[in-house]
Amino acid sequence: MVHHSDDWARIVEDARHYPSPHNSQPIKLRPIDDRTAELYYDLDLGLPAESFGIPFGHVCAGVFLEGLRTVAAGNGFAVSEQLDHREMDFASADRLHSLGTVTLSEHPATDADRARHRLFLERRTSRRPYDATMVPDAALTEAAHVADSAGHAFRTTADPATVRDLVRINQSTLFSDLRNDAVYDEIMTWLRFSRDEARERGDGLSAEAMLMPGGVLRFAMGHRGLWQTPVIGSGIRSVYLNTMRGVRQLGWLEGPFDSPADYIEAGRTFLRLWLALTARGVYLHPFGTVITNPGSHRAFVDTVGANEGRGRMAWMLFRFGHSKRPPVAHRRPAAAMLIGAAR
Ligand SMILES: Cc1cc2nc3c(=O)[nH]c(=O)nc-3n(C[C@H](O)[C@H](O)[C@H](O)COP(=O)(O)O)c2cc1C
Repeated sequence: MVHHSDDWARIVEDARHYPSPHNSQPIKLRPIDDRTAELYYDLDLGLPAESFGIPFGHVCAGVFLEGLRTVAAGNGFAVSEQLDHREMDFASADRLHSLGTVTLSEHPATDADRARHRLFLERRTSRRPYDATMVPDAALTEAAHVADSAGHAFRTTADPATVRDLVRINQSTLFSDLRNDAVYDEIMTWLRFSRDEARERGDGLSAEAMLMPGGVLRFAMGHRGLWQTPVIGSGIRSVYLNTMRGVRQLGWLEGPFDSPADYIEAGRTFLRLWLALTARGVYLHPFGTVITNPGSHRAFVDTVGANEGRGRMAWMLFRFGHSKRPPVAHRRPAAAMLIGAAR
């Protein structure tokens, strides 16, 4: 029998709320005793259709590890990691890619630890229109500090023409991705067209989270050829761009992005930055597909003059600002994340 303690159960109950691309929740955990667990990336829940989808597997692992550390700290534990930095092989027969092990040790929770744990649970992606107000400079300074301390650079623009161009690039990424059969199939796997389906499956991208009536989304996605026609294409484009009203600022991260260890550190940095903005009531919406789509990535880098080369990359772009509270993205139950005796 596989034994695991109540501590793991309590930690996983909250740690499963980490954000993941397409809300695919690929991280799995196998407790081997009260204090140690093996960590895996479930390759069947990965998004390898785009070339940079593969590094994003490790970015997601980094996001998870930072979340785990945050939840564990709030519960009175420190986490030490013994990570396995092998590249992921999506063709592997073994569908569980080992990420290494994590070990808990008792460490009294401070008020700050508990506050950060709460922030982790509050954090949400907002794909709603923003209210066109600027985020205070202090928040930008803090974001820059979070990035700097991990060897990354946080850059931001509030130049209206640049913001408009980048929002356009993000929108056209969707159109371009849908023309690519592999990427289209991947997206279709994760779209949830009704509220019931989103809740029951507890994963994926719900129509609600994307501010679309489920029936419209289902029709639009089922007839992707129509996106190329002038009338329907421009209709879909304007519905999409309408959700981007009030976007005043965009931010991006540049830094080392050349190996699994780099990708993991990038992921950690991203969640830290996200929590720092959450603490100030600022929402964020990652434009990760602009990074994973090679044409969009090039257009983005050209538009902002990103500093790339020698192992450095502009590896994340996002909009951020103030909006109404967005709908919740559901999670699968903790049992789905735990690998026990019955796999
Ligand atoms: C590395 C990363 C990349 C992401 N890229 C995108 C993206 O390109 N477009 C998007 O709408 N959401 C993106 N997201 C947001 C996820 O879809 C979102 O976190 C997930 O659906 C769970 O929702 P929540 O953040 O509200 O909990 C990304 C998230 C992460 C962690």
